[in-house]
Amino acid sequence: GTTLGASAAEKGRYFGAAVAAGKLGDGTYTGILNREFNSITPENEMKWDATEPSQGRFSYTNADRIVAHAQANGHRLRGHTLAWHSQQPGWAQGMSGSALRNAMVNHITQVATHFKGKIYAWDVVNEAFADGGGGGRRDSNLQRTGNDWIEVAFRTARAADPGAKLCYNDYNTDGINAKSTGIYNMVRDFKSRGVPIDCVGFQSHLGGLPSGDYQANLQRFADLGVDVQITELDISGSNQAQAYANVVKACLAVSRCTGITVWGIRDSDSWRTGENPLLFNSSGAKKAAYTSTLNALNAG
Ligand code: G3I
Repeated sequence: GTTLGASAAEKGRYFGAAVAAGKLGDGTYTGILNREFNSITPENEMKWDATEPSQGRFSYTNADRIVAHAQANGHRLRGHTLAWHSQQPGWAQGMSGSALRNAMVNHITQVATHFKGKIYAWDVVNEAFADGGGGGRRDSNLQRTGNDWIEVAFRTARAADPGAKLCYNDYNTDGINAKSTGIYNMVRDFKSRGVPIDCVGFQSHLGGLPSGDYQANLQRFADLGVDVQITELDISGSNQAQAYANVVKACLAVSRCTGITVWGIRDSDSWRTGENPLLFNSSGAKKAAYTSTLNALNAG
């Protein structure tokens, strides 16, 4: 193939980008999006603060704009994200206990129902595990409602949109470490008890080459019976081109790695200001990392 999306499709994968609704009027941006990518993740527009700014009043204008763009241009959609400790609206930040639990359940039901049938995969729960050596859950207002909040979120999402794949998504999970093992144990437990989970997202915000056990880590999750996806890829550092190629190779080597999403299009679109971690420079030109990514997708 001659584009990221077409080359990934030849390997039975998708290649996506995080998209901001406010940039859809930028012709350079949408030109690259429509040429190169076949999947979209809204960067902020489906988050709790964006979709339910005041309790029970839902706001979908910006998210719907992205959905319409995706449908008009044949992109699949990853939904991001239904339950997260961050980017909660102020009213939810101040809640606790059963009031917060009920608010979360209602939020998931309403949002997943609004987008029902349009989402390939939802990041149902984002970043619920702690960094560091413990392998346990992160403290948050959601966690303090009870350790079962994650499975409640997944069951609620399944009931609202049975056709969407349901993912758990996190960062610093790109090798075999305490955090990824904590998540691995949760997924294994969910599968054994019939809690609905279909996929695990590895954000992969990297600062150089992925760790040597990156592929082995993806494979051990796949072996639990879930799909794996690279969900927010961006890479800083001088070996960026090689690092992107290594990530692509790892995904292609794992049959249940269904696709890769980069977290923005041009370097100027990245949340990592000044790190230039993406595949297109700020003018929209292809970088060396683009070429190495395309070549890795086309190899073999
Ligand atoms: O929309 C407001 C705008 O009205 C205001 O003028 C401006 C002033 O700061 O802020 C704008 O909101 C910002 C929003 O991005 C949209 O640009 C927020 O401040 C800013 O915090 C927010 O950052 C996002 C961040 O998540 C929030 O946690 C980034 O764009 C987004 O790339 C980032 O994405 C996360 C994933 O969701 C989860 N994984 C990590 C990843 C990187 O942090």
